[in-house]
Amino acid sequence: MSALRPLVSTGLMGRLSGVARPMARPVAATLGSRMHSTGTPKGLKERLAEIIPEKQAEVKQTKQELGDKSLGEVTVNMAYGGMRGIKGLVWEGSVLDAEEGIRFRGMTIPECQKRLPAAIDGGEPLPEGLFWLLVTGEVPTKEQVKLVSEEWAARSKLPKFVEELLDNCPRTLHPMSQFSMAVTALQHDSLFAKAYQSGINKTEYWQYTYEDSMNLIAKLVPVAARIYRNVFKDGKVPALDASKDYSANLAHMLGFQEPTFVELMRLYLTIHSDHEGGNVSAHTTHLVGSALSDPYLSFAAGLNGLAGPLHGLANQEVLRWTMKMRDAIGTDATDEQVKEYVWNTLHSGQVVPGYGHAVLRRTDPRYSCQREFALKHLPTDPMFKLVSQLYNIVPGVLTEHGKTKNPWPNVDAHSGVLLQHYGLVEQDYYTVLFGVSRALGVLSQLIWDRALSMPLERPKSLSTDHIRRMFKKA
Ligand SMILES: CC(C)(COP(=O)(O)OP(=O)(O)OC[C@H]1O[C@@H](n2cnc3c(N)ncnc32)[C@H](O)[C@@H]1OP(=O)(O)O)[C@@H](O)C(=O)NCCC(=O)NCCS
Repeated sequence: MSALRPLVSTGLMGRLSGVARPMARPVAATLGSRMHSTGTPKGLKERLAEIIPEKQAEVKQTKQELGDKSLGEVTVNMAYGGMRGIKGLVWEGSVLDAEEGIRFRGMTIPECQKRLPAAIDGGEPLPEGLFWLLVTGEVPTKEQVKLVSEEWAARSKLPKFVEELLDNCPRTLHPMSQFSMAVTALQHDSLFAKAYQSGINKTEYWQYTYEDSMNLIAKLVPVAARIYRNVFKDGKVPALDASKDYSANLAHMLGFQEPTFVELMRLYLTIHSDHEGGNVSAHTTHLVGSALSDPYLSFAAGLNGLAGPLHGLANQEVLRWTMKMRDAIGTDATDEQVKEYVWNTLHSGQVVPGYGHAVLRRTDPRYSCQREFALKHLPTDPMFKLVSQLYNIVPGVLTEHGKTKNPWPNVDAHSGVLLQHYGLVEQDYYTVLFGVSRALGVLSQLIWDRALSMPLERPKSLSTDHIRRMFKKA
């Protein structure tokens, strides 16, 4: 457990005196904002402490100037329709455009791949850099990313009782249930919960949320590795290597040494991190956090949502479904055979996993970058060929079927085929990897929720009777 470090006093709040200086998207950090006068790079918390007063002032001004503006209409259908399209949340890290896909602090996935520091020349971005970007809005330097890798390694030790808890789980308990349980158990060491109990000032909430979030993210690697090794392997977990980055350690502790698999983990953990605030795992973490439940309890709740088959569990369903299809029609099936298989799925009242999205109306860019990875590293993999064939066929079938608003593939349609190529074939485990990545997005927002004093979330609900009476003609 790491103690709170003293913050650098910037005096920014005084200088701003209520005048907002909107953050650029993404902020181009100046040298002064990156380094101490001694030439050593500033750490994430120090940089965040400098940015927070600026953002607080910006939000204050936004509320003063625009507080009474309407963000849009809410119809009865929206209330019955899972609140689709209702603009009622603030989420700083990412925004999702129906046509273009996700932007992390204004940057598309290809831009992140180009601009965020990588471990190898021309390689995939390090998720540490993506986390820095989500938290600060700034593209970090290689040195800053290294600081985050080192910090996460230093905070990664699990309490003995959590290790024992996982070791005592039956192998038949779903990996996501074990994951959520372990995160809840880690709450034992929540600094936020302890500080709240002892009575802290509201202005300090973000600091404890930050510390808990950093500790939690760090511990997700040994937790995820332990679940995998216990459920699917011999129960022996390789020791974490403090000189490695987060993804390299995850691969290493899972038992995978292949350098391209490590690169895959870097890409995977980067692209699954955040998808704005309304999706089930993000919204749940944010909602539970709004009750000032600490980051462990909030994230565990989000994980339980991620474990649903219409959300994160879809990535396990996709490979299972694709393999069933391969077993039924073979890897050299004709387009007609594949089409028939897809229609059979639809006629039996099931969804085609990996296709459709609540917001997107085009191919998910997270799908596209995984496809590019496959084209580069595993172009002849038979399952990849099948996934490519599905990409050519499913959108047409779903369009003809005429129900889904988006016939294009989402992120989950591609992740499984990459993992199985490198030998990670246990589909039930896939959503745990998604969960490790999702922590980066939802916890970076949770820090901002507390820094911006986001209140208890409490939308208004109505009964059908009430709705009918509201619009009853006099
Ligand atoms: C993601 C998903 C839950 C979005 O749901 P949504 O916003 O309600 O989607 P739509 O508005 O397009 O749904 C309209 C209809 O099309 C159906 N539909 C949507 N995607 C479908 C798919 N992939 N296969 C078959 N039917 C689908 C819905 O079930 C719904 O049918 P209903 O009217 O009988 O209830 C949905 O597309 C789905 O179930 N996809 C498969 C699971 C998946 O890949 N999840 C991961 C998402 S990242």
